[in-house]
Amino acid sequence: MKITIFGTGYVGLVTGACLAEMGNHVVCVDIDAAKVARLRGGEIPIYEPGLEAIVRQNHASGRLEFTVDAAPAIAHGNVIFIAVGTPPDEDGSADLQYVLAVAATIGRHLDRYAVVVNKSTVPVGTADRVRTAVAAELAARHAAIEFDVVSNPEFLKEGAAVEDCLRPDRIIVGASSDRAVALLHKLYAPFNRNHDRMVVMDERSAELTKYAANAMLATKISFMNEIANIAERVGADVELVRQGIGSDPRIGYHFIYPGAGYGGSCFPKDVQALERTAHSYGYEALLLGAVEAVNRQQKTKLFEMISHHFNGELAGKTVALWGLAFKPNTDDMREAPSRRLMEALWDAGAKVRAFDPEARGETHHLYGDRDDLVLCDQAYDALQGADVLAVITEWKAFRSPDLARIRATLAEPALFDGRNLYDPATVEEAGLAYYGIGRGRSL
Ligand code: UGA
Repeated sequence: MKITIFGTGYVGLVTGACLAEMGNHVVCVDIDAAKVARLRGGEIPIYEPGLEAIVRQNHASGRLEFTVDAAPAIAHGNVIFIAVGTPPDEDGSADLQYVLAVAATIGRHLDRYAVVVNKSTVPVGTADRVRTAVAAELAARHAAIEFDVVSNPEFLKEGAAVEDCLRPDRIIVGASSDRAVALLHKLYAPFNRNHDRMVVMDERSAELTKYAANAMLATKISFMNEIANIAERVGADVELVRQGIGSDPRIGYHFIYPGAGYGGSCFPKDVQALERTAHSYGYEALLLGAVEAVNRQQKTKLFEMISHHFNGELAGKTVALWGLAFKPNTDDMREAPSRRLMEALWDAGAKVRAFDPEARGETHHLYGDRDDLVLCDQAYDALQGADVLAVITEWKAFRSPDLARIRATLAEPALFDGRNLYDPATVEEAGLAYYGIGRGRSL
């Protein structure tokens, strides 16, 4: 099939590459000419396992094209995806200006029936607004062209985006036209070979499904972080509690890992946006507000533990940091808990020596050159001249550390385990003080 995709960010690029991989002819449009030029040269702007290979292969075979030129791209696609950004407004609502600008562009150039698909995470009611924006432009040029608007939210996880896209657990399609549903059935048929994963519903329900999924996952994390905070006060180990409750299939083991708070481009933004949507309809979403508040507090947790360890005297101390990205297998620093930790340490007069397998470039891009930040090329380099070690992102490379080496290198051997990766007794036997999240004696 012929596909057009507006936006070559995470969602657009992964969707485009995966649809091309399934044999479709995909044209990706972006207004950023430099980015388009890099993509044409096979350069991928983000770190995402498996993405580079499928972009290059499909680009080389001609099934995946990149352009800044909207008009021919709109003439190309029978299905036109909108996958541009929806950054938070000042009040936390999703800013739809880019989505609506693309809708208007589509209206200006559409010359035959097409299905316009909202792939970005957009507030409930956006399908209607996109329909109105396309229709207004068609009316302005007196063009009697039929089109449909479908909500088809994406559920990919950074670090596993290609895998999630090629093997989705569900394909949500919000549509009110049989013609559009039939076209999407055809498009997604290769993803549906073993059993039908497509769940068809109305547009508003599809839009809310996306927010509800992310809000539910964020709620599980904040709930568990709250239990961790209770556990450490009552002298319990949240890791045992986690296993104890996860064994109940109604609760499950997924997404109940306490830690340094959730980050990334989705949970913080989407929980806030859903809260704003509810508010704009006259409903105060009490639970969502609490989920956010717990997360804000949790992001200060590691700093508080480190500060407590040094009796509040952090000036002149150096903290080694393992992990910077908001989670493993990505270089994404958006809303990363490491940022809150580093900024608090700097405010308190401490220095940071940090290592992350992928996010050093992003971190340098964010903070530039500064005396109180050294970005190291090796994990153990970060320990040189440091007083203590904090682990904040659970990269696999950090899972079996050389504790004797850590102890020998740190000036005041203490390990702050922001992801509960290590066995406290083993760390302590190696001669390091151990601090975890919700493990009896954290504070
Ligand atoms: C999230 C969802 O998981 C995807 O399903 C969704 O499609 C995506 O948002 C989106 O809306 O685009 P992502 O932000 O890539 O994906 O990352 P997650 O793997 O969900 O992790 C989010 C944050 O939660 C990370 O900071 C992670 O460390 C934290 N987390 C996750 C925990 O603290 N505990 C857990 O048990 C799980």
